[in-house]
Amino acid sequence: MSAEREAAKGATAVAAGDAHPVRYLELTGFGSHDKLKLRSRPAAPPAPGPGQVTVRVRASGLNFADVMAQQGIYDRTPPLPHTPGMEGAGVVVAVGEGVQDRKVGDRVMVLVRWGMWQEEVTVLSAQTFLMPEAMTFEEAAALLVNYITAYMILFDFGNLRPGHSVLVHMAAGGVGIAALQLCRTVENVTVFGTASARKHEMLKENGVTHPIDYHTTDYVEAVKKISPKGVDIVMDPLGGADTTKGYKLLKPMGKLITYGMANLITGSKRNLMALARTWWNQFSVTALQLLPANRAVCGYHLGYLHDEVELVSGVVSRLVALYNQGHIKPHIDSVWPFEKVADAMKQIHEKKNVGKVLLVPGAEKES
Ligand SMILES: NC(=O)c1ccc[n+]([C@@H]2O[C@H](COP(=O)([O-])OP(=O)(O)OC[C@H]3O[C@@H](n4cnc5c(N)ncnc54)[C@H](OP(=O)(O)O)[C@@H]3O)[C@@H](O)[C@H]2O)c1
Repeated sequence: MSAEREAAKGATAVAAGDAHPVRYLELTGFGSHDKLKLRSRPAAPPAPGPGQVTVRVRASGLNFADVMAQQGIYDRTPPLPHTPGMEGAGVVVAVGEGVQDRKVGDRVMVLVRWGMWQEEVTVLSAQTFLMPEAMTFEEAAALLVNYITAYMILFDFGNLRPGHSVLVHMAAGGVGIAALQLCRTVENVTVFGTASARKHEMLKENGVTHPIDYHTTDYVEAVKKISPKGVDIVMDPLGGADTTKGYKLLKPMGKLITYGMANLITGSKRNLMALARTWWNQFSVTALQLLPANRAVCGYHLGYLHDEVELVSGVVSRLVALYNQGHIKPHIDSVWPFEKVADAMKQIHEKKNVGKVLLVPGAEKES
């Protein structure tokens, strides 16, 4: 059984020496928020195994994938019951045998496949990254999934260069804002960003050249009106018919990077019509069609890169440098205590969030 699997089951995550029980959230079934239960286990001295560290968690990220997993439609969901949560930040309280690069007291960010929604986790030291000194725990819990994703899409697949144009969907969400900030690190990039109208001021402040309210405007027409040839990069987190629209919006040598299926989600309950519609409208292209089109289509899924330790840690190093230089800064939408996980999820289901939604073991704090 892997370290994260054990941590997710609560088997090796143990208390930091105080007498308080360790609290954790557990997903016990799919479909409704009341299937997420707050549990606790007795405190015990931390006992990380070889290569592992135990981390007292100060904040954890809530990702769109957690919302999909709650409805039973995320492909990387482990068997039930399990503790969700792919990222977080906290303090190392114990190190296992052979761990050279972490010590008790280090402030770290943690990236795992699941299991971060608890007060204490035991993970491989390679799944932790040292936090920059100036970074808060909340920022650290908001950085990894969103910024690694946006960075690899824009720079590794997208080859973003000065003068390029980019279409960013869900632009006011966690990945969206990360992408906007990263686009700003390159000269003269034109950004089209789709989001609800009330979020447009914020989009402009974060570098969106042309905000588009996709509720009232056909975004394809809006982009074509300003840039008849289309764009160089389409970030596609929506899937279904939107992938086809994105592909058609590419300029010669343009790249579409598909990395999500947000169209599957229409509220807090699973929507079979949306599932069927998105599946039916799935984009497909043959090599024979791609060849004369001079376009690229890429698929990105961080959940399948967890074993690529060097690749991912290289990206994190570059992100930490960008943070230290003041180029990127996670935008926190709201912070919710474990007890309010259902409200935290609703924040995303109801499209209220601007930036990252976080969970903390302690007291509630909303902005
Ligand atoms: N492949 C990967 O490795 C990877 C990693 C991270 C994220 N992702 C994907 O990236 C996308 C964005 O994730 P995120 O964490 O940045 O999202 P997020 O912060 O939760 O963004 C939520 C916002 O997106 C907009 N939205 C558009 N369609 C929506 C829908 N069907 N349901 C709810 N909100 C919708 C809403 O804003 P408006 O009011 O403006 O519409 C909402 O407030 C998701 O598709 C996610 O699965 C993929």
